[in-house]
Amino acid sequence: MTDPFDFDRPADAYGVMGNPIGHSKSPQIHSLFARQTGQRIVYDAILVDHGGLAQACGNFQAAGGKGLNITVPFKQDAWRWVDKRSERAQMAGAVNTIRFEADGSSYGDNTDGVGLIRDLQANGIELKGRRILLMGAGGAVRGVLQPLLQQFPLEILLVNRTLDKAQHLAADFTNLGQLRVSSYQDLPAQSFDVIINGTAASLQGDLPPLPDKVISSDSICYDMMYGPGPTQFLQWCQARGAQRYLDGLGMLVEQAAESFFLWRGVRPETRSVVQTLREQLLFGK
Ligand code: ATR
Repeated sequence: MTDPFDFDRPADAYGVMGNPIGHSKSPQIHSLFARQTGQRIVYDAILVDHGGLAQACGNFQAAGGKGLNITVPFKQDAWRWVDKRSERAQMAGAVNTIRFEADGSSYGDNTDGVGLIRDLQANGIELKGRRILLMGAGGAVRGVLQPLLQQFPLEILLVNRTLDKAQHLAADFTNLGQLRVSSYQDLPAQSFDVIINGTAASLQGDLPPLPDKVISSDSICYDMMYGPGPTQFLQWCQARGAQRYLDGLGMLVEQAAESFFLWRGVRPETRSVVQTLREQLLFGK
């Protein structure tokens, strides 16, 4: 690895590609990690035209870039573009982290799932033996299914408005653990230990059509989205007496930490970074 304290060398270049990208917190997160760990990197937010991901990645690599994060809507394009993939990226069908290797090849990983697990762990939430209700069947849920099943929950019930999409998704993961599928109407009259919102509903300020019977005051609620205050889903949980609810800000920081580790071989401390971002969100700094 390059010596981060060799100040004669230019700093190693990283970036995040997406569309839109203006509001990405990744440049700030990675510069906090770099400062904390003494790594000399530069990290930019890069707006990429629709259909332009392959070209943009190639240009970045040709200019000497060392690695990229890839965000909406390009994670599947990145999956197709990379030369090699980690097993978890292979299962996720999406790549959110690329490392450019010394031999000129590109290695694609997906750190979203481990980001969710690490954030749950950092908050003292154990999944082993728990009943999990997981909402959604898009790319976000595909990315977390394998790492969730690896925690040995009693079961995961996948619920989606479009049932056949959930069935199709689940079929790729049923050999990894107890995974069932339901529509919102057919959910059982029993509360779940952990309820995770992996839908895009919170982005639109919307709420999945969850019946009250699935939640109790002991249910732990997690929204993979985040905002300045509790999301619609977390407000819904609060109103039904849930004592513990978390948004996806911690997951964002943890997935970034795993990318940083993949690139630099150093694991940054994350909780102070979550705290900094939380204060900015709350106080609009
Ligand atoms: P992503 O890659 O972010 O997961 P996606 O592939 O478009 O995005 O998937 C979005 C998911 O959110 C889908 O599971 C979608 O449900 P449908 O498959 O039934 O469309 C879910 N979703 C979006 N808005 C929702 C809402 N208001 N209520 C419930 N589910 C919603």
